[in-house]
Amino acid sequence: MRLHVVDHPLVAHKLTTLRDERTDSPTFRRLADELVTLLAYEATRDVRTERVDIRTPVAPTAGVRLSYPRPLVVPILRAGLGMLDGMVRLLPTAEVGFLGMVRDEQTLEAKTYATRMPDDLSGRQVYVVDPMLATGGTLVTAIKLLIERGADDVTALCLLAAPEGVQVMERELTGQPVTVVTAAVDERLNEHGFIVPGLGDAGDRLYG
Ligand code: PRP
Repeated sequence: MRLHVVDHPLVAHKLTTLRDERTDSPTFRRLADELVTLLAYEATRDVRTERVDIRTPVAPTAGVRLSYPRPLVVPILRAGLGMLDGMVRLLPTAEVGFLGMVRDEQTLEAKTYATRMPDDLSGRQVYVVDPMLATGGTLVTAIKLLIERGADDVTALCLLAAPEGVQVMERELTGQPVTVVTAAVDERLNEHGFIVPGLGDAGDRLYG
């Protein structure tokens, strides 16, 4: 597994406003969307393309287009939905699958309550979007499912990560073709499994 922390002043600026408890839901949604676009720009650096021959008004030339099979974008419900639009704006030909997962507030164990995506992901590039990588239970479960279905290149985009969750990902997904792209790795998890300093409960701030 590879970790990529996007170090950019615009990312840091938007993340700071997202973290601020005074930021209201409409602003939080807009900023999350903008931040995803910046993370997606980095996360899609290795998106597969193929050559295409075109003609400009002046001359013929060769260019590229996103290749087939199309990339798959998978938001993890609920909070991941807040990242979907920003992602498909950059990957307009992408197919979208859905994973509904919720973390038990006591045990912090991730449970899957909905799966809607292709059974066969052989040879597919997959982009999973979920704002928070906390204990890592949710993303590990999601990514193992994608790899079991044949995905051979998985990139997870998270607004924020905790070092504990990154370690779990590295341990559970050793040697797998997985990249995590995030705006920051924070200090730690608290006793309730919240990222510190974090930004609170992303699902509640987006949709609560
Ligand atoms: C949050 C978050 C991640 C998960 C991260 O979702 O959006 O999916 O927790 O935690 P983990 O790394 O410890 O597994 P939550 O379960 O609160 O569901 P929601 O998106 O429906 O609010």
